[in-house]
Amino acid sequence: MKQQIATFIAARPSPPAWKVRFELAHSPQPGMYVLADLGETVRTPLFPTSIDESGFDTIVPPGHPATRLLPGTQVDVLGPQGHGFEVDANRLLLIADVEHLPLLIPLLDRAASVAVIVEAMTRLQLPSPTIFPPNVELIMVTLDGSLGYLGPLESLDPAAMGFVRASSVLKELLICAEQVCLALHAVRYPDLAAIVYKTRLNPQSNFAQAIIHCPMPCGAGVCDICNITTKLGEKHVCIDGPVFNLLHLHKESENQQPPQKLDA
Ligand code: FES
Repeated sequence: MKQQIATFIAARPSPPAWKVRFELAHSPQPGMYVLADLGETVRTPLFPTSIDESGFDTIVPPGHPATRLLPGTQVDVLGPQGHGFEVDANRLLLIADVEHLPLLIPLLDRAASVAVIVEAMTRLQLPSPTIFPPNVELIMVTLDGSLGYLGPLESLDPAAMGFVRASSVLKELLICAEQVCLALHAVRYPDLAAIVYKTRLNPQSNFAQAIIHCPMPCGAGVCDICNITTKLGEKHVCIDGPVFNLLHLHKESENQQPPQKLDA
């Protein structure tokens, strides 16, 4: 496990969170992380939201220990760690809820054509369109229907009069995309994997990649806290992920069903 010294540069509000800047010789790539010793009882995983040759930015919630550091503080970090996103596509689809969107931000410039689906409870929680590059196709989804398409993304229930289900546009974008990267609560991935199976008859192995964000105190596959069950058996998010093939997170019972086309 690689050990490095990061230098804390600054933390500034980026409502509703904080943006924190570290200088680091070897920064994590999108989906990977470093385990930082921020003076807590266990190390804290930090995921990059932007990466350059001198370091990386990360987004953290208010009150996070990184926001209390003084500029110039030397921070002991382990990593880069884990298995990140592998993007090699001209048409990339990114899918996130507003909570996990920062995990996909470093992918916004990784393809010639990028579409982003962002889901929030209500319009006031959606990010400003100005944080996205102007060439990104932005699709907003709200659970209360206050803006954009009606969520949740995986719902195939008929929408009430005047609303359009997000799953309809999701199907169209999945057909067009060469790759899709997701950042959502892990419990939602099996239903979205089922939609991918029904929309794409033979998706390639890295077509859909999903990041799992969970506590990772040891980062070494030792404590078992990040253990999950996948189609390929028991895995540790910290060393086998955090990015997994979405289709390996598919429900076992649905894996055995023949693929069906999603109803229009
Ligand atoms: S964080 Fe300890 S096993 Fe993954």
